[in-house]
Parts: sequence; C-alpha cells; structure tokens
Amino acid sequence: MHDFLKRLPKAELHLHIEGSLEPELMFTLAERNGIELPYASVEEARAAYDFTDLQSFLDVYFQGMSVLRTAEDFHDLAMDYFRRASGEGVVHVEMHFDPQAHLARGVGLSVVMEGLDLARRHAERELGLSSALIMAFLRDRPAEEAMSVLEMAAPYWEMLDAVGLDSAEHGNPPARFREVYERARRLGIPRVAHAGEEGPADYIREALDLLDVCRIDHGVRCLEDPALVSRLRDEGIVLTVCPLSNVRLKVVERLADHPLPRLLDAGLKLTLNSDDPAYFGGGMLANFEACHHAFGWDEAVFRRLAANAIEAAFISDERRVALR
Ligand code: HPA
Ligand code: ZN
Repeated sequence: MHDFLKRLPKAELHLHIEGSLEPELMFTLAERNGIELPYASVEEARAAYDFTDLQSFLDVYFQGMSVLRTAEDFHDLAMDYFRRASGEGVVHVEMHFDPQAHLARGVGLSVVMEGLDLARRHAERELGLSSALIMAFLRDRPAEEAMSVLEMAAPYWEMLDAVGLDSAEHGNPPARFREVYERARRLGIPRVAHAGEEGPADYIREALDLLDVCRIDHGVRCLEDPALVSRLRDEGIVLTVCPLSNVRLKVVERLADHPLPRLLDAGLKLTLNSDDPAYFGGGMLANFEACHHAFGWDEAVFRRLAANAIEAAFISDERRVALR
C-alpha cells in the first residue's frame, strides 16, 4: 500500500505554506536573519508542537513564521516544501498564505509575492509540480483590515487563484467577511473558506450562502446538520479534510474516531490534505497512510479521493487532463 499511495498522483488543496516550515529551515532562516528563537534546538522545537486546540497551535505557528523576512526566505520555504511533496508523489499544491501575519511584522506583500512566485516557477521547471495561490484573511482580525489587504493586493489579483479565510474560528463567523468576499467575487477571484473545523455546522452554511465559496476547508462538523450534509452532497461541494491536523488539534481524539468514513458514506466529495505538515506530523503521504491504517480503505477509495482533488483544483482543463 505504501508504494501505491506514494505513486498515486496527489493534488493538495489545503496547505498553509507557513505551516510547512520545518524546524531545520526555521533555524537556518533564524541564523540568516539574526533572529532569536524560543527553542534551543530542532528537537526542542518539535517537542513544543503539542497542541490542545486550534488557538494553542496558532500561537506557535505565528511565532515560527517570524523567521521569514525576505523574498528569498519565502522562496526557500516554498521550495523546501515543494521538493518534499514532489518526493511523496504530489503533483499539484494549492497554498494558502497569510499576508496580514507578515504585514504585522513589517514584511510587505511584495516580498511575500515575489518569493512565492519565484518558488512556483522554480517548482514547475525543476519538479514539474504545478501550484496555486490562495490569499487568506485572518478571521480573528477586523473585516476592514481584510478588505484593505484585498485592495493592497491589486497588483497581484491576476496571480491569485482564490481568497480564503483562516485562523481562530470560534466566535468569528463567515458573515463578518461578507463584503470582502463580495468584492473578491466582483473581481472574479474564486473563494474558499475554513469552516466547521472547530466552529459549528452553521458556519459552513454561512460560508456557502454569504461568501459564495466553491470549496469548504475542513467542514468535518457538517455531520451535526443532516440537511446541510444533503446540500453539500447535492451541490457537489468539495471538503478539504486534514486528518492528521484534526488529531493534533484535538478536533478528534484519535484518527479511528474521525468522521471521514461517515462523510464518505454520506456521499460527500472529499479530499485529503496536510494543512500544516511541519506541525501536524507529516505531509500528504503521511495523511494518506494514516487513513489506510485507521480505516482500512482500499486502493479504489484513495483513487477516488485523489481524483476529487484533481477535479476541484484551480488548474486549466489541459493540466487537469494531464494529471488524470
Ligand atoms: N486552521 C485555521 N487556521 C489555520 C490553520 C488551521 O489548521 N493553519 C494555519 N492557519
Ligand atoms: Zn487550514
């Protein structure tokens, strides 16, 4: 099964590029930029990745990205991940990035965009790996700030495959971002949003109704609302599920308790993703293998999940055919 899962051409639709920062690179960049880390060693950093919920992770995640200062840093971050992912049989990566988290540290949008764009082209050339870019808004920051970031991104609108919504979900409903998403819609930029990870099923409904998203990131709590499950199935809305993330952030106690088999039985269009691979115990292959061990799925199930991702990816029809 390991060889099959590794060879299976996989598209990743839910990855935070800042969450792909492995401790080794974190230390390299800290030294390069003269930044002090709160960890004495790579091992100590890894040991600190012990989370109780989403917020406890976000604190560590925002701290970790403080080493990213220059376009070269963002290039190296993304290339480091692309190389690893490619080695696991990943052929396409859609990466969220958090401009507000960088702007707050005095790192301009142009720095982030230049570095990520360079890495994307580099990966295409060197690895034959395609990618897409999802500019995410931090939902625990004011909607006005998100709107100003969207306007600030005007020179890069053409480069954005979608906008997204991430960070602390509790108490930050999609409704707050209605106008920002309406603006993105009028600009012709596709939309996705995290919903129903820690937050209630209602947030998934809101993301569909008020933000007009084409995919839901996570969405696992939809099972609490049977009418919503029917709607997701009937409308063919893709959920980008992140199994190891859900375990590490205690959305579920153990992978064996994960709702994935029930979501599959409900006829939903699911994809498997790594979310923040450096923090949650592995990339795409680790997530696929963990599901094999927990649920005993056969090759046909994994083929279907991989096909769902290629089907829902922000790629040209030409590229889609090439990946099928
Ligand atoms: N959930 C919400 N926001 C995030 C995550 C996540 O898992 N990772 C990075 N930002
Ligand atoms: Zn996520």
